[in-house]
Amino acid sequence: MSEKYKFTYKTIDDVRLASGRLGVDIPLSTDTSVLARPVNLTSRVTLKNSLAIHPMEGFDGNTDGSPSELTKRRYDRFARGGAGLIWFEATAVCPEGRSSSHQLWIHENNVDEYARLVDDIHKKSDGAAVIAQLTHSGRFSKPENKPAPIIAYHNPLFNKNFDIPADYPVVTDDYLDSLREKYVNAAILAKKAGFDGVDIKSCHRYLMSELLSAYQRDGRYGGSYENRTRLLRETVRDVISTCGGDFIVATRMSISDCVPYPYGFCTRADGSVDLTEAKQLAAELRDLGMNLFNVSMGTPYYNPHVNRPYDSGGYEPPENPLCGVARLINCAFELRAAVPGMTYVGTGYSYLRSIAPYAAAGALSEDKIDIVGFGRMAFAYPDFACDMINGQFNSRRSCISCGKCVELMRAIAPAGCPVRDSLYLPIYKEHCKRG
Ligand SMILES: Cc1cc2nc3c(=O)[nH]c(=O)nc-3n(C[C@H](O)[C@H](O)[C@H](O)COP(=O)(O)O)c2cc1C
Ligand code: SF4
Repeated sequence: MSEKYKFTYKTIDDVRLASGRLGVDIPLSTDTSVLARPVNLTSRVTLKNSLAIHPMEGFDGNTDGSPSELTKRRYDRFARGGAGLIWFEATAVCPEGRSSSHQLWIHENNVDEYARLVDDIHKKSDGAAVIAQLTHSGRFSKPENKPAPIIAYHNPLFNKNFDIPADYPVVTDDYLDSLREKYVNAAILAKKAGFDGVDIKSCHRYLMSELLSAYQRDGRYGGSYENRTRLLRETVRDVISTCGGDFIVATRMSISDCVPYPYGFCTRADGSVDLTEAKQLAAELRDLGMNLFNVSMGTPYYNPHVNRPYDSGGYEPPENPLCGVARLINCAFELRAAVPGMTYVGTGYSYLRSIAPYAAAGALSEDKIDIVGFGRMAFAYPDFACDMINGQFNSRRSCISCGKCVELMRAIAPAGCPVRDSLYLPIYKEHCKRG
């Protein structure tokens, strides 16, 4: 743990003071009643409050892609936890695009398993909306638990870390053409399983997200803005026209990779954020009929601090994590202000621990976001939403952004919170060095 950036904030005034010193804006409000505000998504779906659980992969599916008992346990806890929106974890649309042999993968032969799980979530959550996140892991595919990258283009910043040789083949345009149908089929299955909608995942540099920065790719999916965004736009178009109506079609996007141009989407060569293309793309997706947009930034494979602010790791983080929190909140606001007409879900609040309810309330009451989502907090404290809404948030149950769940994920072990959920402690001891 870096001493310099150690989390020492006990009150919202401490955070106000620290963010003021850093020159960043984190909205804060002690009136948390706004967290209980219902959110209307479609004529059929109204969320019972303004809190969401972000997609959090548990790496614990059965090898046929269906949810295991451990997966069901996670969603049982999430369902009972009170959040109005449960954004179901990354679920592969094809076997070669799985992040491990334990990533969920929806197909004709296991859709009934999903239907039972979604039904259970709906019942136990008293009507939370459930969105399926559909994905292809691309460069980070490991269907047999060893790297089998499917890359959109060569990228020296990533190739080096993942041992990808210069002559490694780039995925073909024909393969990318064929993916639209796989997403559509997975969306049809998700609808059949009872999900309220799907997310065509475009974040964190998995395949759809990597394409957004494919400046140096030739052909139909590279170079120009139109080509780089083609697969996402056309997939969203096809999913809407096939599943349409009240079925929600969303995306979770890294609106800036924070990877320098020409290797990152919406990032200048000096690494700073430029949301011009994200705004254009969000507007185009809205005009196609998209109504829900989950805002994320960065990728855990380049600078994880941008993606999920934290201060652990035994080294000094590249920035005070409050800067990361403020970037996520304020970039989401910039996009939402520029592209009205969709419901936006914000990210980046778990780092704030006991101050998180006040930041969520601040962002909602200052109209910076429509829904506040929590990732790691949900692993640590699955019923955070109930307690935040009732003013009973217990800091001893909070996520402490220690990164142990990420270590589990990197070890391709079932991911959960070894700090707050005793079931994961022996798993952590077995798979991770620092046990
Ligand atoms: C173990 C783990 C698994 C994750 N799985 C997913 C995922 O399946 N899909 C996704 O979009 N983000 C995933 N994320 C990112 C989170 O949803 C979230 O964006 C990130 O943790 C920052 O939010 P937080 O500060 O509330 O944790 C994962 C993060 C962690 C730590
Ligand atoms: S392992 Fe650490 S970072 Fe992950 S949820 Fe638990 S407390 Fe938070």
